[in-house]
Amino acid sequence: MEIFKQIAPLKAFINAQKQRGQSIGLVPTMGALHAGHLSLIEASKRQNSITVCSIFVNPTQFNNPADLLKYPRTFDKDTLLLEKVECDAVFYPDSSEMYPETSLIKFDFSHLDKVMEGKFRPGHFSGVALVVSKLFNIVEPDHAYFGQKDWQQFTVIRQLVEELKFNLTLHSQPTSREADGLAMSSRNLRLNEDQRKNATVFYQALLAAKNALHAGKSITEARVLVKEIVEQKTEIKLEYFEVAESKNLNLLENVKDSDQPIMCIAGFVGEIRLIDNMFLN
Ligand code: PAJ
Repeated sequence: MEIFKQIAPLKAFINAQKQRGQSIGLVPTMGALHAGHLSLIEASKRQNSITVCSIFVNPTQFNNPADLLKYPRTFDKDTLLLEKVECDAVFYPDSSEMYPETSLIKFDFSHLDKVMEGKFRPGHFSGVALVVSKLFNIVEPDHAYFGQKDWQQFTVIRQLVEELKFNLTLHSQPTSREADGLAMSSRNLRLNEDQRKNATVFYQALLAAKNALHAGKSITEARVLVKEIVEQKTEIKLEYFEVAESKNLNLLENVKDSDQPIMCIAGFVGEIRLIDNMFLN
């Protein structure tokens, strides 16, 4: 597996592959890799001759400096995992390679980044769009892979690709979960034993809300139920529970107004912020 810390040699590698007619799949990550990330690598390997995984803890998408500082960094372990799944190349730049100068560009995705994650993490999606645009321009992949776990991120990136005419196909992969249902996340590494046990309530609350909504309860009633379930555990606080039209992220007041509603949840376990989601149908 090739490891590139700089853009120029990575581009030379990609160009050589393209000249040989190889297709390129890109899996952007921030490292601390888990089975969810690896499922994206595997999807890329099935559809492309060459898979590139990027590992970069992108400072511009962190609205909370403490979160950036404490974000887990496990590069040696990550490369072992990537070797095992036979990823072809890793792009592991440092900040000065990705941001040689302070970036001036800000993205605004209108209502797509004003709700849910965008509302509670101002500037987050602008930073995501910036780094993903850079990665798309550097790697020029034929296919790029993202997780459903970050559904709003996928929606924002889809808008980015459509509007800016990036010449690639986007793919969204299902959320990989631990045996108790907790969505895999790099931030789970920061949970202590008790917090880890309790963190499964986000998934349980989504299941309960799904049942309640299917049984004809309103979204407001489902939100009350979700808050009750989540906050019965010590150290857990609900930040939001929303039901949105999955295509355009319009928040719903009634599930009947939507073709394909998605339930999205975010909350804190101690000081660690976790998110999850589930389609209703
Ligand atoms: P990161 O959180 O490392 O996630 C990298 C990719 O893995 C994202 O597309 C995310 O949705 C996906 N992913 C995370 N947990 C998953 C799970 N349990 N199952 C399936 N896929 C999962 O998302 C980012 O990094 C960054 O915002 C990034 C896109 C790399 C831009 O910096």
